[in-house]
Amino acid sequence: MPAGGFSASLAPPSGMEFEAKITPMVVTSCVTAATGGLMFGYDIGVSGGVTSMEDFQREFFPTVLRKRRENKGSNYCRYDNQGLQLFTSSLYLAGLVSTLFASYTTRRLGRRATMRIAGAFFIVGVIFNGAARNLGMLIVGRILLGCGVGFANQAIPLFLSEIAPTTIRGGLNSLFQINITVGILFANLVNYGTNRIHPWGWRLSLSLAGLPAVLFTLGALFMIDTPNSLIERGRQEEGKVVLKKIRGTDNVEPEFNEIVEASRVAHDIKNPFRSLLQRRNRPLLLITILLQMFQQLTGINAIMFYAPVLLTTLGFKTEASLYSAVITGAVNVLSTFVSMYTVDRVGRRMLLLDAGVQMFLSLVAIAVVMRTRVTDRSDHLGHDWAIMVVIIICNFVSSFAWSWGPLGWLIPSETFPLETRSAGQSVSVCTNLLFTSILAQVFLSMLCHLKSFIFVFFSICVAIMSLFVLFFLPETKNIPIEEMVERVWKQHWFWKRFMNDEGDNHVISEEETPPMVSLSDSFVE
Ligand code: BGC
Repeated sequence: MPAGGFSASLAPPSGMEFEAKITPMVVTSCVTAATGGLMFGYDIGVSGGVTSMEDFQREFFPTVLRKRRENKGSNYCRYDNQGLQLFTSSLYLAGLVSTLFASYTTRRLGRRATMRIAGAFFIVGVIFNGAARNLGMLIVGRILLGCGVGFANQAIPLFLSEIAPTTIRGGLNSLFQINITVGILFANLVNYGTNRIHPWGWRLSLSLAGLPAVLFTLGALFMIDTPNSLIERGRQEEGKVVLKKIRGTDNVEPEFNEIVEASRVAHDIKNPFRSLLQRRNRPLLLITILLQMFQQLTGINAIMFYAPVLLTTLGFKTEASLYSAVITGAVNVLSTFVSMYTVDRVGRRMLLLDAGVQMFLSLVAIAVVMRTRVTDRSDHLGHDWAIMVVIIICNFVSSFAWSWGPLGWLIPSETFPLETRSAGQSVSVCTNLLFTSILAQVFLSMLCHLKSFIFVFFSICVAIMSLFVLFFLPETKNIPIEEMVERVWKQHWFWKRFMNDEGDNHVISEEETPPMVSLSDSFVE
């Protein structure tokens, strides 16, 4: 067996489809788990609206309000305030630290227990935020919510990928993203309503996060754990019973054996994080890090966090900007359903590549409108141009929603073998939250200094990531989760050289140069 190895010891790739029905238990478990996405989404969506409310600024960020009232200096710089950005980014910073602990609990205590911990963090965090009397309480509340996000985002995508039958894994996993988008939309709607309630509308916005928090926590109390996690923790019989229930058949032996084998290998691994760095795991690690980094470098959260702020920069009134954020939020939800329907049919690569083109064009268009219509001192876009901007933003959001949004979470959660799955997922969440917090922290300053060029920057990033997908991302559609290494990574024209254990001095042979580019297929021979 290769050192620490999963490859030789795994059963040869069966290539067979395991028997599985789409049972009510799978559907309800997945729907329940995915409600954690509601909470994440609500937290993403609520901050932009709240930070643009005058009552909130008066209470916690009076200098921002003064600057806005005085209407001095560049339009692009009105909201360039580190404290304001810290309010948004603190949640993600806390999330990224907590996910390292969450990796341990997901492996040792299970996916369900990790979700329960997340629920507890959410509820206490909401109480702090809703009752905040000063900036300190506000930030503590955000940090607790961030810990909730760290634990939830660690456990939920894994839970969904493990529990779903292979052929609809992508679709079921998209439930997480659908809930994120519904959470964002709900927050946008709440902000739109509470903006009229003075002076405590912002408090209501922050407190209503309690609804998704309670929903998720109750769900986590009654949920099952995944067979993979039960078996990994030595509860084989229980794992088999759950497997039979979720697959709706007694004929689960082949899948059960595959999980048992994966779990046996997992037990040989003492330190999963160190194991991630081994040569054969590097491609998986790299893809995970890049996918999550790229997801954020599309610039999506410049829109999700700061759409209201961005739109007021462009000359919209507060109400109009909140209203437009609701429209983009709705487009976000609807478009995610496209992904749910198509991801297991056309595959992951096709969606990412298609969206790349659409997002690139939208970003360039936003940059051009900003460059030509908004100057430092005049912020009147005019009615027609304002509508145009909202349409372009919707186009951008919609293409993100059926591609990088769900797939940034799906692919890392389905790609690692069991022994490194929790650690890999932890890296995935960490990278996502790291780049989310960096963007949350620097976007308003970048807007102030780069002005419209900030969208040129994002468009260049989208071009680079699309090329990366074209050449280096393998297709994972319809491959059983415990067969990914054998059937995907070991067959890929580039990454397969990492999969043999000898090879540090591996020389690229002619047959390993990229084959003709195909949009829908991976470079799998
Ligand atoms: C991303 C978030 C983003 C959201 C938008 C998620 O997949 O991780 O950062 O705000 O999609 O819908």
